[in-house]
Amino acid sequence: MNNPVIRASGIRKSYPGVEAVRGIDFEVRRGECFGILGPNGAGKTTTMNMVQGYTPLSGGELLVFGMSIEDRPRRIKARMGVVPQEDNLDPDLTVAENLRVYARYFDIRKKAAAEITGRLLEFVALTEKKDQRIPDLSGGMKRRLLIARALVNDPDLVILDEPTTGLDPQARHLIWQKLRGLKKTGSTLALTTHNMDEAAQLCDRLVIMDHGLILDEGSPRQLLERHVRGSVFEFDAGEEQAGRLFGCLERIEHESETSGDTVFVYTDDAEAVLKQTSCFPEVGFLHRQATLEDVFLKLTGRELRE
Ligand SMILES: Nc1ncnc2c1ncn2[C@@H]1O[C@H](COP(=O)(O)OP(=O)(O)OP(=O)(O)O)[C@@H](O)[C@H]1O
Ligand SMILES: [Mg+2]
Repeated sequence: MNNPVIRASGIRKSYPGVEAVRGIDFEVRRGECFGILGPNGAGKTTTMNMVQGYTPLSGGELLVFGMSIEDRPRRIKARMGVVPQEDNLDPDLTVAENLRVYARYFDIRKKAAAEITGRLLEFVALTEKKDQRIPDLSGGMKRRLLIARALVNDPDLVILDEPTTGLDPQARHLIWQKLRGLKKTGSTLALTTHNMDEAAQLCDRLVIMDHGLILDEGSPRQLLERHVRGSVFEFDAGEEQAGRLFGCLERIEHESETSGDTVFVYTDDAEAVLKQTSCFPEVGFLHRQATLEDVFLKLTGRELRE
């Protein structure tokens, strides 16, 4: 009963000239929301594609619902829903037809398919758009429809590859609310994202991935505690000012990092930082709580990716 929904042991995927996933281990437990975070090209989609049985593994072992994805792909896929990173809705069909046709792949009868379609369109607030064609939908509507489509077979596991990338805050919050609703009904969710707010809002546990490897794993709180201090100062300081700033901060325990004209100071003693730098009024700064984004940048660096 307590077997994990997904168990990946040393899974690897190589493409000619690229080792996209380089031997990673992780587990997704029943009923949790598990996140894979990582910058562009980290290997998130490749990992999810292996879990879906869409991309064959180059090595390692991958069990989903306790079964090998290589031996039992059909049985696994019947219990899984997938929201892909790229929209692959059928542009020649209407909103409702996209769901009804998808239901046929799972041998769901016509009458049941119609009932499921109505219910899911209601769930993602697209009932009024049911007869529209896909090219006429906004990006947010397409994402919602992809989520509805992933639920057609009432899956035990839903995989979402960047469910809210490119959406406005309204659409994003609506999707978060729906995903929380899904979790409450007992579904297990596995998602990828580079939106740290999304990860903090939704994920019980997550891994941070880069260059095909897992750098760390834990709950959002554990990762914060492990990698960053309580608060962050962002000083607007060029090279010369930065030198003076570090002089002021010498006696305080802190970690710092410079990126362009910004000096980031991570500390547990904000008061002391304020005091020590008060002699330095011409440098503007922002003071805020440390977030998962700080953890992400600390682990994966600040350089731009491919
Ligand atoms: N079909 C493929 N053929 C060759 N290389 C591939 C293929 N798919 C992915 N890659 C490479 O594997 C690496 C990981 O890609 P992947 O799509 O898994 O990253 P990602 O973490 O999902 O990135 P993003 O955040 O941009 O979606 C990249 O270097 C990519 O170019
Ligand atoms: Mg991807």
